Formats: sequence, C-alpha cells, structure tokens
Amino acid sequence: AAWEKQVRLSSTPRRTNGFSVLVTGAAGFVGSHCSLALKKRGDGVLGLDNFNNYYDPSLKRARQNLLSKHQVFIVQGDLNDGPLLTKLFDVVPFTHVLHLAAQAGVRYAMQNPQSYISSNIAGFVNLLEVAKAANPQPSIVWASSSSVYGLNTENPFSERDRTDQPASLYAATKKAGEEIAHTYNHIYGLSLTGLRFFTVYGPWGRPDMAYFFFTKDILQGKSIDIYKTHDQKEVARDFTYIDDVVKGCLGALDTAEKSTGSGGKKKGAAQLRVYNLGNTSPVPVGRLVSILEGLLSTKAKKHVITMPRNGDVPFTHANVTLAFKDFGYKPTTDLSTGLRKFVKWYISYYGIQSKTRKESQATGESG
Ligand code: NAD
Ligand code: UGA
Repeated sequence: AAWEKQVRLSSTPRRTNGFSVLVTGAAGFVGSHCSLALKKRGDGVLGLDNFNNYYDPSLKRARQNLLSKHQVFIVQGDLNDGPLLTKLFDVVPFTHVLHLAAQAGVRYAMQNPQSYISSNIAGFVNLLEVAKAANPQPSIVWASSSSVYGLNTENPFSERDRTDQPASLYAATKKAGEEIAHTYNHIYGLSLTGLRFFTVYGPWGRPDMAYFFFTKDILQGKSIDIYKTHDQKEVARDFTYIDDVVKGCLGALDTAEKSTGSGGKKKGAAQLRVYNLGNTSPVPVGRLVSILEGLLSTKAKKHVITMPRNGDVPFTHANVTLAFKDFGYKPTTDLSTGLRKFVKWYISYYGIQSKTRKESQATGESG
C-alpha cells in the first residue's frame, strides 16, 4: 500500500490537462533528464528501470537520488516482467509512455548479444502487449537510433533513407523495434512515435560512450584509441546535446496522437511516426578530442587505429526537417558549448583525477 501510494503520487500531474507518463529507463542518461523536465513542467512521472550493471550502477543510483528530490519515483523492475507492468497500468491510467529502456552501446554485443534481444526486442514487445491491453491505451514515444541507417550513404540522413544495412546487432534490434512498432500500430491502433537519437552527450551521461571515457582517460594520462574508416578517413558523428534531445522528446509527446484501440486501417487512426533527433552538424572524432584537450588543458595521448571499430558506421548526419515541421525541433547547442557543460559536471561529480594526490603533492600543485 505504501508502494502504491508512492506510485500514484509520483505519476499524478500537477498542471491542468497534464500527462501521466511512464518513463522506462528513467535511471538512465536520457531517461533521467526527460523525467526531470516532465516533472518540472507539471506532468506526473513514474520511472521504471532494472538498474542493470552494463555500466556503473552507482551512477544510476545517483540519478535516482536526484529524481527523488523532485518527487519522481522509480520502480525497480524489468521490461520483461509482465505482471509488474500490468500492475503499474492497473494502478495508474498512464496517458503516455516514454520508452527509453534498452541495451544501448554498439560494442557490447560482442560480449552479450542476448541482452540486446532481451531488452530491445522481447522487452519492447512485452511493454506493447501491456500497453495495448491497458485502459486507457497510452500514446507511446520510444527511442530508436541513428544506427538504423547503418551503411546508408545519403548525406544527411532523412527518415525515408534505407535502413536495411544495420552494421551492428544493436542497430538490428533498434530496426526490429521499428518494424514491431509498425505492427502494433497497424493491428491495435496504438499511437507510436519513434525517435532516432544521434550520439547524445552531456552531464550525467553514459560512461561507455567515447566523449565520457576520453575525458576520464585524458585526465588520468591514459592513451585513447581513435579509429579510422576503411578508407583511412576520420569517423564523424552528429553529436547531439542532451537538452536538445529532451526538448525533442517532450515535443514528440506533446504532438503524439491518441491511441484508438482498433486497427490502423480505421479512419482517423494514429499513424506510426519516426523522426530524426540530431544536431545537423557532424564532427570528426579528432575534433571532439581537441575540444576536450582545450577544456581540460591537457594533451591527449592519441593512439590511432587504422581500421574501423567493430560495428561502427563511418559517419552520421541528421536531417531534422520533419521534427521541425511537426513539433518545432531545433537543436541549439554546438559541440564546444555542450562539452563545456559536460566537463563542468564531470569534474564536480568525480573531481579532478588527472594525477593522484601524491603526484600533485610532489609537484607542489593543489588539488
Ligand atoms: P542508458 O543505458 O543510460 O539508459 C537505459 C536505461 O534502461 C538504463 O538505466 C538501464 O538500466 C535500463 N534498462 C535496460 N534494459 C532494461 C530492461 N530490460 N528493463 C528495465 N530497464 C532496463 O542509455 P541512454 O543513453 O539514456 O539511452 C536511452 C535510449 O536511447 C536507449 O533506448 C538507447 O538505445 C537510445 N539511444 C541512445 C543514444 C545515445 O547516444 N545516448 C543514441 C541513440 C539511441
Ligand atoms: C552512440 C551510442 O553509444 C549508441 O547507444 C547509440 O545508439 C548511437 O550513438 C546512435 O546515435 O544511435 P556511437 O556513435 O558509436 O553510439 O558512440 P560512441 O561509442 O561514443 O562513439 C563515438 C565515436 O567515437 C565513434 O565514431 C567511434 O568510432 C569513436 N570511438 C569510440 C573511438 O574513436 N575510439 C573509442 O575508443 C571509442
């Protein structure tokens, strides 16, 4: 009963016509930011997260602490736990689901392929099954990925480009998610909006991503690996700042159609929508490193690898015309500005670790 009370309190909106949103992956990077933004504008938010140890779970706990200060409660549980999800929908008439829980990262599939199938395919289907049976049926906005473009050579990528050449198992499961969403929209009239994020970075970010561990390794004086494309060019990414992505997620929720409870063939039924949420300005990894070197006042020890990283694509570049047209999405943060904010957060969270305490004492520096 105490649990139910917390669940209700957290998910009850404080503004008129406010949403009641289930945020999956709420202890994650994008999920924690979106949960806070929704709560701050008066929507009700309930988080769900399994707190897995793909990366440091203490960072997920720290994000959870931050959310709890803002009265956002996170239920610990797995997407594949049908009875738990059903219970949540029994207690709360969610108007929306922001589905961000997933096995992210491209390289980890070489170690644990099953985790991608379990969370990104089976877990997504389980969530859709519960949402389809719920009354009311929520509108669902979920995270797809720029990785679905795979080896697409159109530049920039627009939503209609081919997505039949995934370069990693991660990309394949995200692509599968889009196909699965289509069927649930078509058969059950569920409103589904997919967001293809492009390499999102910022404060409270993911330690498995390059900008994050480059910062750590540069500060600790360790060497960093920089991969090249097959033809020895620099790899480039359309790095997108977290605040821009949060605005895009809220815009997609605000303009999501209502679920109709019946097939997509019905007149006026919700259409499956998919949008790019990128920055529209690809940056080579070498430039990312030099910005970090400047912000950290430390030279990186660069180890150039003359091959692509397993599962990597050579470049990403978003065309965001569609998201602009439908919900005014306009990225405003350039990479230097965003990385400055990240580095500021990183140092306040972890402290300067460039040298051990002993080394800085020996050289007469203060902490
Ligand atoms: P994240 O790993 O920080 O967040 C995901 C959260 O989901 C984690 O806290 C994890 O514990 C939780 N989770 C994973 N599997 C679960 C399961 N089966 N049940 C319950 N909880 C589970 O990742 P993120 O960067 O915040 O990414 C959010 C979403 O955006 C993911 O779907 C990811 O694939 C997608 N995405 C991210 C980026 C990016 O650059 N960050 C880019 C494209 C797409
Ligand atoms: C990121 C996320 O990790 C995925 O979860 C997400 O789905 C994807 O963005 C996306 O946009 O869809 P990625 O762009 O590969 O994937 O992010 P990083 O792993 O941080 O790599 C960024 C760049 O740094 C890549 O070009 C990569 O080649 C390069 N890199 C990475 C290196 O040069 N050295 C490294 O040691 C690691």
